[in-house]
Amino acid sequence: MSPATNGALRVLVTGGGGMLAHDLVPALRAAGHVVTPLDRGDLDITDAAECLAGVEGHDLVVNCAAWTAVDAAETDEAGAFAVNAVGAANLARAASRAGARLLQISTDYVFDGNATEPYPVDHPIAPRSAYGRTKAAGEWAVQALCPQSWIIRTAWLYGAGGGNFVTTMLRLAAERDTLTVVDDQVGQPTWTVDLADLIVRLVAAPAAYGVHHGAACGQTTWRGLAQAVFEERGLDPERVQPTTSAALGLPAPRPSWSVLSHDSLERAGITPIGDWRASLNAYLAGSATA
Ligand SMILES: NC(=O)c1ccc[n+]([C@@H]2O[C@H](COP(=O)([O-])OP(=O)(O)OC[C@H]3O[C@@H](n4cnc5c(N)ncnc54)[C@H](OP(=O)(O)O)[C@@H]3O)[C@@H](O)[C@H]2O)c1
Repeated sequence: MSPATNGALRVLVTGGGGMLAHDLVPALRAAGHVVTPLDRGDLDITDAAECLAGVEGHDLVVNCAAWTAVDAAETDEAGAFAVNAVGAANLARAASRAGARLLQISTDYVFDGNATEPYPVDHPIAPRSAYGRTKAAGEWAVQALCPQSWIIRTAWLYGAGGGNFVTTMLRLAAERDTLTVVDDQVGQPTWTVDLADLIVRLVAAPAAYGVHHGAACGQTTWRGLAQAVFEERGLDPERVQPTTSAALGLPAPRPSWSVLSHDSLERAGITPIGDWRASLNAYLAGSATA
């Protein structure tokens, strides 16, 4: 690949078939970068040799590839570790060798979920699920192996490029009179378009390497998010009844508190993602089927 010019970066996006990559690739291109999205079939990040070859010739790697099946990770932690930890390490080593920078996407699940204030970036991590442990290991690997790297922890993602909670609520609204949704987990619903925009701004800014939080401002519960979807579609939000995480009984423990502080972005002079509700409305307004 020939070098890009005029400040444009040659960017490799791994996990190119995923939900975040769906919005990140066009956002990077709109900013003038030369982008190579590779899905698992093109570049399996668990393969160290494929990573070395794939990263060569790029200035920046954005790792959107991940094992994201949170419950399945409980019964196959080794499988999740291979992607989320070893895969991240493979990319970090390859980026370091190629003189490229690496931006790794991480998660609120690295925290214990028991806080009552937004988690600052330097709060001790204490994952409670297999998925969280493997993503935490990925953070360590990236920081150890590629000093010119960013970790962006995000949470509660939705977007046009994949199945997500918002589209599930719209489907259930059409299928059922009432539904129950957990009301004891608090977080920041985050649109992939907003996270993509933050990534574009972060890589263009004077290098603020390290850990940042890439989630929307404000907070709600899953029920609150479902009710907002109903309201936005002109449906009665009281059709969404509350339930508890315990009643749902999913295999992986969910953080009851996933609110992430934007402290490090503010210190770096980078504007955080805005209010979750405004973005949800924009997402729903932009697509008749969303
Ligand atoms: N979704 C959320 O709510 C959320 C919340 C917090 C953090 N995150 C993080 O955000 C990032 C993006 O998530 P997303 O929602 O866009 O996930 P996604 O839609 O599940 O996309 C992940 C992509 O990674 C690919 N992949 C899996 N194993 C791979 C491998 N060994 N090599 C190469 N590619 C592989 C998947 O391909 P296949 O389809 O073939 O498996 C998929 O295309 C991830 O790091 C995730 O941990 C997501």
